[in-house]
Amino acid sequence: MPAQPLLKIENLVKHFHVRLGAFGERAATVHALDNIDLNIMEGETLSLVGESGCGKSTTGFTILNLYKATSGKVLYKGRDLATLTEKQMRPFRRDLQIVFQDPYSTLNPRMTIGEAIGEPILFHKLCNRAELKDRITTLLGDVGLPPRFAQRYPHELSGGQRQRVVIARALACQPKFIVCDEAISALDVSIQAQIINLLLDLQEKYGLTYLFIAHDLAVVRHISTRVGVMYLGRLAELASRDALFGNPLHPYTKALLSAVPDTDPELERSRNRQILQGDVPSPLNPPSGCRFHTRCPIAMDVCGKLVPEWKEAAPGHLVACHAVGKGAHV
Ligand SMILES: Nc1ncnc2c1ncn2[C@@H]1O[C@H](COP(=O)(O)OP(=O)(O)OP(=O)(O)O)[C@@H](O)[C@H]1O
Ligand code: SF4
Ligand SMILES: [Mg+2]
Repeated sequence: MPAQPLLKIENLVKHFHVRLGAFGERAATVHALDNIDLNIMEGETLSLVGESGCGKSTTGFTILNLYKATSGKVLYKGRDLATLTEKQMRPFRRDLQIVFQDPYSTLNPRMTIGEAIGEPILFHKLCNRAELKDRITTLLGDVGLPPRFAQRYPHELSGGQRQRVVIARALACQPKFIVCDEAISALDVSIQAQIINLLLDLQEKYGLTYLFIAHDLAVVRHISTRVGVMYLGRLAELASRDALFGNPLHPYTKALLSAVPDTDPELERSRNRQILQGDVPSPLNPPSGCRFHTRCPIAMDVCGKLVPEWKEAAPGHLVACHAVGKGAHV
């Protein structure tokens, strides 16, 4: 049976109202997310990539209703999460978890690992106190840690072990969906591989769906079912992993992928690398039309005037670019 959407994100917008100037005298709006349309399919790993500040974390936070959406919908189990109060969100919080880059920010230094993992179980009344110890032992086992770790404190663990604990804590609620926001970025490369394999094993065991946010495109290529490319608060392209890496259509995706060194030195020497010119414009005053037009090597007149339509260039391959479909080559 083909996968069903677990979450349907429709026209999601998140603007932050900020005050600028030495005395906060000027009001301004950060266009962090604009018109995001996205289905997240059951059991998939959907990765989001793009330069710093393009809105990846804001997407994760707004989907989980940790940031209140400015407008748009996040449909889950027949409800629009974006409209729910924190109290109404409570039954859904169990299903929807997040793992951050820095496990220290998630773990209370004064709680033992057992207490940290047990806390959400007791909060959501998922088992009674008599069963709690066994449940914690099972969860520690799931993330490859021995039962004795339940008595330890976060500072007694390595970075990789702490991230395993954070994953166990997220799993404690038997979630359906986990946002992994740079969950492996702070770890040593060898430990990163272990945590990625752990995430993949857990996905298979528990049928989890991931929104995976990462900078490292090699990791994204390894772990993803589909990949979404964001630029300045908008989706530029969304496709299966193989289509995105094998046949990128959007000029920004091409430039992003071209920045990744090839592991084959021969291929690396013969490559025609595309260097992105200039900085990402400010989200306080994003460019009109296609937000990439100020840096795009093939920008046309229309690009600064009209927002490109989010269209399906090939089955399941979505892109927002006026040039796609006109035989453009970058
Ligand atoms: N709480 C906030 N208040 C005001 N602006 C914010 C807030 N959170 C994020 N932003 C702004 O929204 C935009 C998107 O930020 P976001 O953190 O989602 O980017 P990101 O793609 O996750 O970047 P990074 O790769 O650096 O983590 C940025 O311009 C950021 O400065
Ligand atoms: S719409 Fe225009 S500016 Fe934007 S990526 Fe396509 S060609 Fe470049
Ligand atoms: Mg981020």
